[in-house]
Amino acid sequence: MNDERQHKSLWTVTTLPRDFPSLRGDLDVDVAIIGGGVAGLTTAWLLKRAGKKVAVLEMHRVLSGQTGQTTAHLTELLDTPYTTLLKDFGEKGAHLAASSSRAAIEQIASLVETLGIDCGFTRAPGYRYAETDAELRELLQEVSAARQAGLLATFTKEVPLPFPVKGALRVEDQALFHPREYLLALADRIPGDGCHLFENTKVVDIHDGAPCRVVTEDGTVTARAVVEATTTPLNRVAMHTKLYPYRTYAVAAPLDAPLEPGQYYDSRDPYHYIRTQRVDGVSYVIVGGEDHKVGSEEDTASCFAALEAYTRDRFPVKRITHRWSGQVIEPADGLPYIGRNVGSRHVYVATGFSGTGMTFGTLAGMVLSDLILGNENPYAALYDAGRVKPKAGAKDFIQENAEVAFRFVADRLSKPDGRHLSDVAPGEGKILEVDGRKVAVYREEDGTPHAVSPVCTHLGCHVHWNNAERSWDCPCHGGRFSPTGRVLNGPAVKDLPSRKLPVK
Ligand SMILES: Cc1cc2nc3c(=O)[nH]c(=O)nc-3n(C[C@H](O)[C@H](O)[C@H](O)COP(=O)(O)OP(=O)(O)OC[C@H]3O[C@@H](n4cnc5c(N)ncnc54)[C@H](O)[C@@H]3O)c2cc1C
Ligand code: FES
Repeated sequence: MNDERQHKSLWTVTTLPRDFPSLRGDLDVDVAIIGGGVAGLTTAWLLKRAGKKVAVLEMHRVLSGQTGQTTAHLTELLDTPYTTLLKDFGEKGAHLAASSSRAAIEQIASLVETLGIDCGFTRAPGYRYAETDAELRELLQEVSAARQAGLLATFTKEVPLPFPVKGALRVEDQALFHPREYLLALADRIPGDGCHLFENTKVVDIHDGAPCRVVTEDGTVTARAVVEATTTPLNRVAMHTKLYPYRTYAVAAPLDAPLEPGQYYDSRDPYHYIRTQRVDGVSYVIVGGEDHKVGSEEDTASCFAALEAYTRDRFPVKRITHRWSGQVIEPADGLPYIGRNVGSRHVYVATGFSGTGMTFGTLAGMVLSDLILGNENPYAALYDAGRVKPKAGAKDFIQENAEVAFRFVADRLSKPDGRHLSDVAPGEGKILEVDGRKVAVYREEDGTPHAVSPVCTHLGCHVHWNNAERSWDCPCHGGRFSPTGRVLNGPAVKDLPSRKLPVK
């Protein structure tokens, strides 16, 4: 049965899979790292290099989370504009945000070089361009804010795109790479010398203490420190009021005419992000965008259709060869949370990376490994996970949390999509009302139905059907479940319980 994610990224289909064992029994290490994405693998590698014994615990396969679905621009142009960062974090904060992103790019460059990783790492400029006069006015302010924050940014009318634009912020020395080739090279180096990488090992509970205990379905890991590198942390409430999940889409298409290697961003809201990459001798343009709050779009397939139309309109392509989507986690004040978890002594989190999680995930590895090793880190204070900045409003804290509260109530009261199994077509999922209670029903292509509870096992919001990826998505904190209720991504750790259906 196809209850797996439907769309795989260009990166996933152009690299060989790996096969790491799963944890069976108990284990003691210095640091347990939950999550095998960019943040977890980078943290693990840097700690192993410093002599620590680490264990990475990944509930599916490494790089099957958002890192597998990324478009992997390595950029200092953050989702939060520098004009906003200067206002909310001051000149020092904006400067640190820029220099930490630069440090992350250089960290990747240095690992590529010292470990000899063949991942097509290349330096290229980045362009944020304006297509209207209003966008141009904002862009000019952003150029001066970016320069004030220390970026090598200029305004230019020379933008190597195959369609006219009014001008662009150009920033030098950004980078492009094949993220999976890079990160698999780190993953391959983790096992050995008392270090471990486990796949298909789901963490179900974490106990802070001396030592900490990390409970999985098949064994417990004791450790002096724990890192939750799970995109969004597993803890129940504290961090989640500051994190907002958005879904975003990407397509790749072989180029029929040359496009100058680089990164390009339009100035719409939500914006489109565009880059080039050569993979297996083919030059691709990769276009992302069409973001929306998780669970708020009824027809997610229409987001792919809109993105394909955008790509075909603007670039010399005949066919779209790859489509994929994923989630980005937006932080309340516009910068990620990296550091000791709220109320914890030995548990660390790395989350809220927005659309620049390849650099922020790398930075998380740098900051967290320093904190655990007892080293000074120049960026630790800026990204402190416990901070609350009521005045910094990159996202509207009150509105975002009001929406969670609204969803919690409204989805319980809303009408079901149908009352009969016959209302659910093959390949489709719907919320039915059966014997007075709501049930999430998915019908396989061969007609076999599956019914699960629609109540998310994290904090009880109701899940929504995602028709493009065939999954049940939770609008509150971005938990996702397969059509048959298996956890695809956290913060939920328990599957949706099965429900009985009437025979007809
Ligand atoms: C379409 C798209 C385009 C993007 N483009 C860019 C870009 O161009 N540039 C950029 O910098 N960023 C980009 N991003 C963002 C970036 O990819 C992510 O922020 C980053 O990959 C997140 O890495 P991570 O390690 O935090 O999370 P993940 O890669 O999601 O890793 C977390 C892992 O934790 C595991 N896990 C969760 N719960 C448990 C548990 N209970 N037990 C065990 N394991 C668990 C998951 O299975 C997962 O593998 C993009 C994201 C998307 C979706
Ligand atoms: S209620 Fe939090 S992810 Fe569903």
